[in-house]
Amino acid sequence: MERYEPDKSYADYIVIAAEENGVNVIGLTRGKDTRLHHTEILDEGELLIAQFTEQTSAIKVRGRARVYCRHGEIMSGSKQGGHL
Ligand code: TRP
Repeated sequence: MERYEPDKSYADYIVIAAEENGVNVIGLTRGKDTRLHHTEILDEGELLIAQFTEQTSAIKVRGRARVYCRHGEIMSGSKQGGHL
């Protein structure tokens, strides 16, 4: 990835809507090393409105949630042993 340019498409907001308790939203670092730099835990009905940034190039969603982004609406599945 070249220089981070906040006016580009990756500056779009995404919305993560948790559909069970304990959904993990994990930020992965941009660049050569891929590390987890932040974890947010959502309970059922909670929303996270987030952007990709200079620091974050990938987001992992673990647990049952709806993700709304410019590519459409995506449903993530329940993790095994998810908290109900
Ligand atoms: N550090 C990686 C990068 O900036 C993070 C990443 C983005 C990634 N997309 C990925 C890691 C897909 C594994 C798979 O490119």
